[in-house]
Amino acid sequence: MGFLNKNYKDYQSILKNFNPPYAVVDLDYLDKNIEDILKRAGNTKIRIASKSIRSINILKYIFSKSRQFQGIMSFTTAETLFLIEQGFNDILIGYPSVNEIEISLLADKINEGKDIVLMVDKAKHLEIIERVGASKNCKIPVCIDIDMSSKFPGIHFGVMRSSINSTQKLKELLKKLSILNHIKLKGIMGYEAQVAGLGDNVTGGGLKNTAIKFLQKKSIVEFTKRRKECVELIKNEGFDIDLVNGGGTGSLETTIQENWVTEVTVGSGFFSPTLFDYYTAFKHQPSAFFALPVVRAPENGIVTCLGGGYLASGSADKLRLPQPYLPEGLKLTTNEGAGEVQTPLILGNNKLNIGDVVFFRHTKAGELCERFNELILIKDNKYHSTINTYRGDNQCFL
Ligand SMILES: Cc1ncc(COP(=O)(O)O)c(C=O)c1O
Repeated sequence: MGFLNKNYKDYQSILKNFNPPYAVVDLDYLDKNIEDILKRAGNTKIRIASKSIRSINILKYIFSKSRQFQGIMSFTTAETLFLIEQGFNDILIGYPSVNEIEISLLADKINEGKDIVLMVDKAKHLEIIERVGASKNCKIPVCIDIDMSSKFPGIHFGVMRSSINSTQKLKELLKKLSILNHIKLKGIMGYEAQVAGLGDNVTGGGLKNTAIKFLQKKSIVEFTKRRKECVELIKNEGFDIDLVNGGGTGSLETTIQENWVTEVTVGSGFFSPTLFDYYTAFKHQPSAFFALPVVRAPENGIVTCLGGGYLASGSADKLRLPQPYLPEGLKLTTNEGAGEVQTPLILGNNKLNIGDVVFFRHTKAGELCERFNELILIKDNKYHSTINTYRGDNQCFL
């Protein structure tokens, strides 16, 4: 077996000493993803989205591979405090916080010299941060989230996050910010979810794929201009920013084309869950998966695994279900999907017995780690070590 084409038997043999359920990260595949992500990002600095990793050891592992990985995009203020405790620095919190206690604790860290940036898109966010900054005698760095969605007739193409969807709205927020004494503008972020997180090559997608490609192309032209105009406006208003964050795993090729973007964010591409199988521009390796035991065989052609209902967040469609990965050719049943305590599988041409193991992939990356305390690591086709997830570290942020 090569390091990069392991099959069911290979994993069975490598993991024979472990009792499912368990979660695995294959570092041979993760290494390949890291290498490919670095190539895809060109020379642009890459910030790691910790929500898509949720393991301190894996974060450290990725950082150890290249100096092009700089900084973390965290997902909550509490997580940021935890990451600082673990020795990380340069943390951009990707989403606004209204928790004054946690912002106060972060202000202490900023006063100690830590590089932490809070996300804002409303005057109310500024108000909260200013109040904390004043009480802590701290100038708190903030990043303005710019809405990158496109409005086409009858379609909101993108996500609903930031209220700043025009240069006019940005100007109004900048005006409010400019009179505050305890906030410092560090930069802007624009996350083009409709490209970064939306596959254009879904199996059986047919015309839908064509429509997505068409809309993405149109949208890129539109939000690229918006992002540029926002950067220009900020500079014209006299602010000196050094952070323009954009993109995600699915949009690296296009985001790095924008000269004014100083860094891209990547998270999901490292584990490459099933949601990231459907892109024309790249193909990463499934480096994270989980194992369940076969405990029943209710009728010919069907076996039932224990557990498995690890559904992903997002719109409630079929794509949110985990998928049987190895052996190849297994299918979930339509009636039961992946269940809380039992997951029946249609065997197809496979033969599986009670006591056998089945490997599954999650739809999303970091959410898998909320189901397991540990990740079993494989390296060079061998068991390497066992490490903690956030959950294993007794941490649960979202
Ligand atoms: C603000 C922001 N940037 C970047 C990303 C990209 O992360 P990933 O590479 O995990 O898709 C996300 C994911 O949702 C995000 O919310």
